[in-house]
Amino acid sequence: MTDANPDQDFATRAIHAGYDAMAHAGALNPPVFWSSTFAFESAAQGAARFAGTEPGMIYTRVTNPTVQTLEERLAALEGAEAGLAFGSGMGAINSLLWTLLRPGDELLVDLTLYGCTHSLVNHLLPEFGIVTRSVDFTRTEDLAAQLSERTRLVLFETPANPNMRLVDIAAVSSLVHAGSSALVAVDSTYCTPYLQQPLALGADVVIHSLTKYINGHGDIIAGALLGPAELLAQVRMQGLKELTGACMSPMDAYLVLRGIKTLALRMEHHCRTAQRLAEALAEHPAVARVDYPGLASHPQHALCRRQMRLPGAMIAFELKGGAEAGARFIDALRLFTRAVSLGDAESLAQHPASMTHSTYSPEERERHLITEGLVRLSIGLESAEDLWRDLEQALEAALGPAQDG
Ligand SMILES: Cc1ncc(COP(=O)(O)O)c(C=O)c1O
Repeated sequence: MTDANPDQDFATRAIHAGYDAMAHAGALNPPVFWSSTFAFESAAQGAARFAGTEPGMIYTRVTNPTVQTLEERLAALEGAEAGLAFGSGMGAINSLLWTLLRPGDELLVDLTLYGCTHSLVNHLLPEFGIVTRSVDFTRTEDLAAQLSERTRLVLFETPANPNMRLVDIAAVSSLVHAGSSALVAVDSTYCTPYLQQPLALGADVVIHSLTKYINGHGDIIAGALLGPAELLAQVRMQGLKELTGACMSPMDAYLVLRGIKTLALRMEHHCRTAQRLAEALAEHPAVARVDYPGLASHPQHALCRRQMRLPGAMIAFELKGGAEAGARFIDALRLFTRAVSLGDAESLAQHPASMTHSTYSPEERERHLITEGLVRLSIGLESAEDLWRDLEQALEAALGPAQDG
């Protein structure tokens, strides 16, 4: 089966789309093409490949057969015309932004973004004459007020890293398309195409850090864009080939293809465990607030049910004792690993204000709704009972000596 077959379910496409075993000696797994460059039959053929008038390989910074198989599989899962793989999620974001934006162009972004994306759009791009406006996308009237004929791109995450705010993809996309010629890009890393399909809701481009759930095994760094073929061809030949050079290794493409085969199964398990742990955390006396869209207490619970297949497996929460209690909690964990990143088989815990979101100044964190005491959990694939035992003992430790006896 080579072509993306929209009649097949997600789990089937995750195993078969984009690869024909019989074209590769019957090998069930795609070969890893270890070659930096690819031969042309003639001078004319080389010229045609560079001109984009003939498909085919040129050089692994531009494309590679193993990477192409991954791009086709990702496009089939996301319902996209095309896919483009990168050496990291930040490589994907940079390649898109640097291809599209020129001095004087305006970029509209949601308030809360992953720390490195925040630093890129709010600190660095303005140094090159690009105007970034940071707006609360949950208030569509604020977003509408900032749109102009200079707006080139509208970018957001949903759920947002780390505070689990959601953005209504359909509402924002229709507003932007009605009021401007800007493109809408959604960083859907927290969801994967299994939980959320931004293109079907009206977005133009989807961004993934493949490092997280899509690869799922915490052993590589990678990223991707999914969207219209014409746009991605431009990003390939400028953003990837010339501006960033952030290409993916064929071995990494192979590993992501392997990881993707179990994506549907893994996401079901991740989400089931996260729901149980979020409910238990919300009941615990040491916990002040749990931010998880699967809880009825989440202000956007209804949007989550509309927009996402399941609420995901990232949980943010705050302890009654604030940042100090949060540090005691993190230090007391035994099964959760103290580490940044997410989407691995191993459950991970970190403190966004001092780690992934330390690119925000304290004033920015306040304005961008990232509280100092927030703890972020990535719920892995271990048993829910074992994970809860670990959380419970760490919560007891977080209550501190004053609570003893
Ligand atoms: C939402 C989100 N987008 C993008 C990235 C960047 O991805 P990468 O680490 O693969 O460059 C991350 C990394 O944590 C992320 O959480």
